[in-house]
Amino acid sequence: MFAREIRSGVLYVGTVDWHRPVFDELIPLPQGTSYNAYLVKGATHTALIDTVDPSREAEFLKGLESLAPLRIDFIIPNHAEQDHSGAIPAVLARHPEAKVVTNAKCKDILKDLLLLPEEAFKVVQDRETLPLGGRTLEFILAPWVHWPETMFTYLREDRILFSCDFLGAHYASSRLFTGRDPAVQLAAKRYYAEIMMPFRTSIRKHLDLLKGFPIDLVAPSHGLVYTDPAFILDAYARWASDEVANEALILYVSMHGSVQRMVDHLADGLIRREVVVTPYHLPRADLGELAMDLVDAASVVLASPVFHAGLHPEADYGLTLVAGLRPKTRFFGLLGSYSWGHRLEEIVKNRLTGLKAEILPPVISKGHPKEADFKALDGLADTIGRKHRDLGLISRGQ
Ligand code: FEO
Repeated sequence: MFAREIRSGVLYVGTVDWHRPVFDELIPLPQGTSYNAYLVKGATHTALIDTVDPSREAEFLKGLESLAPLRIDFIIPNHAEQDHSGAIPAVLARHPEAKVVTNAKCKDILKDLLLLPEEAFKVVQDRETLPLGGRTLEFILAPWVHWPETMFTYLREDRILFSCDFLGAHYASSRLFTGRDPAVQLAAKRYYAEIMMPFRTSIRKHLDLLKGFPIDLVAPSHGLVYTDPAFILDAYARWASDEVANEALILYVSMHGSVQRMVDHLADGLIRREVVVTPYHLPRADLGELAMDLVDAASVVLASPVFHAGLHPEADYGLTLVAGLRPKTRFFGLLGSYSWGHRLEEIVKNRLTGLKAEILPPVISKGHPKEADFKALDGLADTIGRKHRDLGLISRGQ
């Protein structure tokens, strides 16, 4: 990828990965991704903010070589994860004059991940500045978006926030910029859901802190550069808030149809009570779609047949996702079907200790659901409908 200016003297030098199918061998990338890196040129010094994934290193280095003669004084990793730091050793090999400028925690992680020597680094503190000659970089420590060492770099004179993964999106595009494009915001929501959601408390703190910085451009390390920062900052504030929506997700798997019948009955009952329902058939569900819906849904119901006295492995995976992503779900329900015994309730309660949700009475049928089970499902639909109404999520006549 060739270098492109985002402002005079501030260049995009990242790479676009159009066809990467998954991230972390887990997260689907329906729109590919990009590894964004930026070159900031001052009158006396030049800084490279982030690098790229090792898989795109050759293309990245070619882009930098096209800028020759180029002296890089500082390489600034805002985040140690290899999709941004992976090409640092190759850049250092070609620019031995450069220092790796980052916070102490990031340095420690990079020494382990990339085997960089101590002397390669210059450690900076929160709010420390780095003059480049007519341009000033300010470092803002922002732990837990989404690792403990993450930080932002703010270019004062140009009012550009280089925000690392924070505010980013897995979104490959020939464009550099976005204004208020809903497609980009949806990709950012998917990214938030998959990566950032467990860190809502830290995110809210960082959003408050950023109110003190005038920002004209947000330049994240994945996706496009935001020319209207409020578009993404306001969306993050909404997603990270405690506000929930009138939505119930049913995460289910069924082996012989009993659980499927229960799910269909509950979905029908919830629709009758004006609750918006999305069933997710776990063996076929898109992880990103499910994560996105978890951002706002007030209720989640897990439905599983009993498998070796516990959850079916697909339902176990669904529960792992919910427990790990820690959404702001208020109410959690459990449906199940067994033949001779089970430990479903115990397993689910033990695994959801980090979720601040009220666990609703489970509905577990012995074999095929019978009249009493369907009544219990109606009762569960009543409970969820009433609780959503009590929260003001369902307006009269909706
Ligand atoms: Fe895009 Fe956490 O790396």
